[in-house]
Amino acid sequence: MKKLIYAITAAVMLSILLPKAQSEDLKDNGGVISLRGQAQLFEQDKAEDMKRVQRDQSPIARDYLHQPPLIPHQTRNYKINTNSNKCLSCHSWKNYRKSGATKISMTHFETRDRQQLSDVSPRRYFCTQCHVTQADAEPLIANDFKPVEELSGGK
Ligand code: HEC
Ligand code: HEC
Repeated sequence: MKKLIYAITAAVMLSILLPKAQSEDLKDNGGVISLRGQAQLFEQDKAEDMKRVQRDQSPIARDYLHQPPLIPHQTRNYKINTNSNKCLSCHSWKNYRKSGATKISMTHFETRDRQQLSDVSPRRYFCTQCHVTQADAEPLIANDFKPVEELSGGK
């Protein structure tokens, strides 16, 4: 019983003292401004407004070989979980003809040991891990990237 009381007292003391000590330590971050603004590490910065995803369009030119093509349509409420994968209801080999969507390529059936499966490989199941929708947003950091001309017509 004594031990328990000691433990509880220690826990309470820590919870009172620790946050104070932390905020003292981090008061001065040396003027560093990161992408999340000048907020201190322990502060919550205001979340950015959600970006508007562009309207449905035809496939977007690729910028380099092996680039996961960008998603040229909205994907709001497209669920991907253990029971269902909304993307595959249009993009699977079984359904692509009916939906008019591009079928997933051979690489999506390959395991990391190069074994060919007869269904989508688990490592390619979560489509939006690699394929993303587009918003008309300014780049966070300026850059002079140019796409491979052969693929994009040098746009
Ligand atoms: C209702 C059917 C449908 C659903 C659901 C759907 N797509 Fe599509 N998707 C299409 C169609 C149609 C196209 C355009 C094909 C074309 O015009 O050549 C397309 C195009 C794409 C492309 C561009 C392919 C390329 O070659 O540039 C990608 C990537 C893509 N979809 C990914 C996804 C992902 C990821 C999901 C799930 C989050 C998804 N799609 C859900 C119908 C669908
Ligand atoms: C680990 C990353 C990754 C995941 C996860 C992934 N893809 Fe891809 N996808 C790629 C890459 C890279 C390419 C382009 C090269 C290739 O075909 O492998 C591609 C190509 C495609 C294409 C164009 C195929 C073609 O013939 O031009 C479609 C459509 C597509 N993916 C849909 C999907 C869908 C639907 C899912 C989910 C079931 C998915 N992808 C999951 C990386 C991924």
